[in-house]
Amino acid sequence: MIRKILKKLTHPFLKYGTGKYFSKPRPYNYESIEVMVMPEVFPPHYTLSTKILLDYIKPLNLKDKTVLELGCGSGIIGLFAASKGAEVIASDINEVAIKTLKQSASKNKLDITIIKSDLFEQIFKDDFDYVIINPPYYPKTPKSVKERAWFCGENFEYFKILFKQLSMRKDHYILMILSQDCDIDKIRTIATHNNLEFILEQERMALAERNFIFRINKK
Ligand SMILES: C[S@@+](CC[C@H](N)C(=O)[O-])C[C@H]1O[C@@H](n2cnc3c(N)ncnc32)[C@H](O)[C@@H]1O
Repeated sequence: MIRKILKKLTHPFLKYGTGKYFSKPRPYNYESIEVMVMPEVFPPHYTLSTKILLDYIKPLNLKDKTVLELGCGSGIIGLFAASKGAEVIASDINEVAIKTLKQSASKNKLDITIIKSDLFEQIFKDDFDYVIINPPYYPKTPKSVKERAWFCGENFEYFKILFKQLSMRKDHYILMILSQDCDIDKIRTIATHNNLEFILEQERMALAERNFIFRINKK
């Protein structure tokens, strides 16, 4: 029963529909880092995927590693990686996210490179130690840049382009978080068509949602 209620509360469209609370800039914290999340940007506050990725990278030795947070939103993951000594690029298609992250980086006194890019279009380095992706995964056509945080296109276009690009790159460790709420089989099939495979790195239950961090490898 409780799980059912939690499930209802964390339903994506409810999460997405939290318009009122997130109609104002809201801070989000992890350890000593604070970012400002603008209304047009993905709110990491209670979807939990961002926090799960942050907890995952926390014990990693990132000193002098190169890290790309692809689709960085608030950029908290990129900033946290930088605080652990990584050399970070954070990218997003959302201009508001990019602009706000520049301010957050400066407030946290962290030096990262912030790039507006449609997936890898403007990313010219192709051999990161880590690429970290928290993707949009609901199959619907996004009608605004804000909706691109949630919707991957009616026919999973985001993944079709992403996996094609990943298959041609030389990155070492590609991490992607997905949830039981999304069509993992379909996403995995698109990866397989691009000669990529998913290796399960971590499975974590948060509220009533099972989340999976996959490592994406070339077959
Ligand atoms: C689920 S949010 C994750 C944000 C952040 N990484 C986090 O974990 O809090 C997905 C992000 O991907 C970005 N995005 C969606 N499509 C994109 C694309 N084609 N190129 C770059 N970024 C994209 C969205 O703007 C959004 O910021």
